[in-house]
Amino acid sequence: MEEKIKSIEAKINAFAIQSRESLEQFRLQFISKKGEVTALFDELKSATAEQKKWLGKALNELKKLSEEKFRHGQEQLESTLVSKTFDGDLTLPVIPNKSGSQHPLSLTRYRIIEIFERLGFNVEDGPEIEDDWHNFTALNFPENHPAREMQDTFFVEKNPDVLLRTHTSNVQIRLMKNNKPPFRAIMPGRVYRNEAISARAHCFFHQVEGLYVDTNVGFADLKQTLYHFAKEMFGKETKIRLRPSFFPFTEPSAEIDISCLICHGKGCNVCKYSGWVEIAGSGMVHPNVLRNCGIDPEVYTGFAFGMGIERITMLRYSINDLRLFSENDIRFLKQFKPVM
Ligand code: DAH
Repeated sequence: MEEKIKSIEAKINAFAIQSRESLEQFRLQFISKKGEVTALFDELKSATAEQKKWLGKALNELKKLSEEKFRHGQEQLESTLVSKTFDGDLTLPVIPNKSGSQHPLSLTRYRIIEIFERLGFNVEDGPEIEDDWHNFTALNFPENHPAREMQDTFFVEKNPDVLLRTHTSNVQIRLMKNNKPPFRAIMPGRVYRNEAISARAHCFFHQVEGLYVDTNVGFADLKQTLYHFAKEMFGKETKIRLRPSFFPFTEPSAEIDISCLICHGKGCNVCKYSGWVEIAGSGMVHPNVLRNCGIDPEVYTGFAFGMGIERITMLRYSINDLRLFSENDIRFLKQFKPVM
């Protein structure tokens, strides 16, 4: 027995653990249930009480030796694996955990909020399932007027109409109806339209509405606010242009364009060779809208705007197909900022 212990001890000491395979070999040969050390414990049963005293001790020491050698071998292997991965340079940063990444639309939404918060705008929220009054009527869309068809609506119920909001302008109404002026808020959210899906259109997308109502708010405030936003969002060189437009809830109304980020005004296929890209609709809040919300248009004036988050994100990251935002293709999504 003593001989056996000595010889196994020698074998353990001589065993070279140099790879995962030899580590496993070692485990099988000495530590596992069928290993040599375990087998000696079985023999212990037939020893005399006197023998058991010192044999038990010797076997436990042998067991400890084998386990320590195993653990040490394991640690060595792991550290050589790590240093091999890092090409020997342990000062390199660790391999980052593969956590998820933030959706590009969220990144743009956060950035928009950041810019407007610094101008004193709050963030407001409203329902996606809306009634006709908040989505259309209060916004000065006349009953049965073709203006309603500017936005193809998904109806949940008819008479009385319940629908998926077609724009975030409904939140303007909810905010003004339930609170007292002044208002300075942006309202990001998802909107729905019954449109065929293509690279440029989808049945749902995201907007940010803006509203500023106070005494003495003028068109110059609208222009300066959006100019500031464009420069913060797209860079100092960015120019803006306002084009006359029509929305039932604003008068006058304007479409806001920014100078094309891709060709810097020279003309390319992103700006359709015009040098300008549309980013928002805007205007001075129509007196009827203020009245519908119980606000006196003789005392208060305001401006509003609405922009598409997808459009801004596409410009920001040079993304050319709207469908990428909702397909959840990991190869697309993982290119954006990781979740912290
Ligand atoms: N609601 C409009 C749309 O979805 C966008 C818009 C235009 C919002 C002008 C506004 C605005 O607040 O003043 O097409």
